[in-house]
Amino acid sequence: MLAWKRSRKILLCVTGGIAAYKIPDLVSRLKKLDCEIEAVMTRAAETLVSPLAISTLSGRRVWLEDDFLSASRGFEIPHISLADWADVVVVAPCTANTAFGAAHGRAASIVEAALLAARAPVLLFPAMNAHMFDNPATRRNLSILAERGVRVVDPEFGVLACGYEGKGRLPETGVILEEIFRALSPRRDMTGKRVLVTAGPTREYIDPVRFISNPSSGKMGLAMARTAWYRGADARVVLGPVPSAPENFYHGLEIRNVVSAIEMRDAVMENLEWADCVIKAAAVGDYRAPSVTGHKIKKEHGENLSLTLEQTPDIAAEAGAAKRPGQFLIGFAAETGDLVKNARAKMERKGLDLVLANDVSDVSGGFGSDFNTVRMMPRAGGETTISGAKEEVADAVWEKIISDGLF
Ligand code: PMT
Repeated sequence: MLAWKRSRKILLCVTGGIAAYKIPDLVSRLKKLDCEIEAVMTRAAETLVSPLAISTLSGRRVWLEDDFLSASRGFEIPHISLADWADVVVVAPCTANTAFGAAHGRAASIVEAALLAARAPVLLFPAMNAHMFDNPATRRNLSILAERGVRVVDPEFGVLACGYEGKGRLPETGVILEEIFRALSPRRDMTGKRVLVTAGPTREYIDPVRFISNPSSGKMGLAMARTAWYRGADARVVLGPVPSAPENFYHGLEIRNVVSAIEMRDAVMENLEWADCVIKAAAVGDYRAPSVTGHKIKKEHGENLSLTLEQTPDIAAEAGAAKRPGQFLIGFAAETGDLVKNARAKMERKGLDLVLANDVSDVSGGFGSDFNTVRMMPRAGGETTISGAKEEVADAVWEKIISDGLF
């Protein structure tokens, strides 16, 4: 089962760049996410990638140049019906020629005509030779489109099919997917907001090879950051040591990796002034060894070994004390009993504006799970409980915060 329901209608316009060979992989991954895909190809694209491959993977016919204004298709006007059908229109790869056509309202191909007719959000992935991309004519065409609200995602730097090394590569499929899901997000109500999130565990070393930690996976904090980015916010994440993530999992987020509570505190305090909203989803170790032995602790200590630990800094409390007017501070409370009472006490002690209390003794949520149930407790009152996949919970938290005018 999907952790986050993503089934949507995607109109995929493929134009004649060599990167078109990567498009079957994109179609296959979209299909696995339950999306419906209609593909439209220019004549040049047809020569670079097989319409049959795309059609087989999408489970639908592919619309070609021969279908455009074709007497044999009779009353069908695919560029209009497809544009009307789509939740999002994606042009990948987008050639300099199609970018010119779209910028100037040309409707000389089935792709250009569909773009002119589209009312859904349009996403453009230019991919070409680095000099062609850098040419002021191409830049101008892309900025005309961006000014009109088209999301133009810059190509990546790397070795290009023409032999040059430069900026011109189609981004990896994972990046394209994240951009599509962002484009599909129905709201951009966090545009201009800056969100700082802590996520994951900390590690407090007691010797060079052993540490005290907890099973936080970072999923809840990353879901808060990702859904804020989908809504238009800039998101920075201070991330403790979590298992390595799938390719491009962090696209759109600025990640700062840290290990210990002290490193996490320093990173949060460095970014505090920048942030409009701080979300403390990390499971920070409360105690650490005052000093780490330079060598591995030996068994010679006998049957029992006593460790003296000291408290780590309370990052949320420090951020609460240093909070500037207008800044909004959210903490999580991980509880195993007396959820509401303990969470409320933490809100007071740490100067939080909102606390999201989760019962971490419930095995269906909390640490490591893709799901969670949180009791949302604003200082201003009006508590609610939200349950679901972590991204759904995170998005519902933002929805409530924004609709209640809390931030
Ligand atoms: O990462 P996942 O696997 O997705 O799991 C999610 C989660 C269970 C870790 C998350 O939902 C959660 O509850 N995070 C907070 C865990 C925690 O440390 O709670 P706490 O009740 O001990 O701390 C209260 C608040 O103070 C938290 O916002 C915490 O980040 C913060 N804190 C705690 C100690 C400390 N030294 N500094 C802090 O800033």
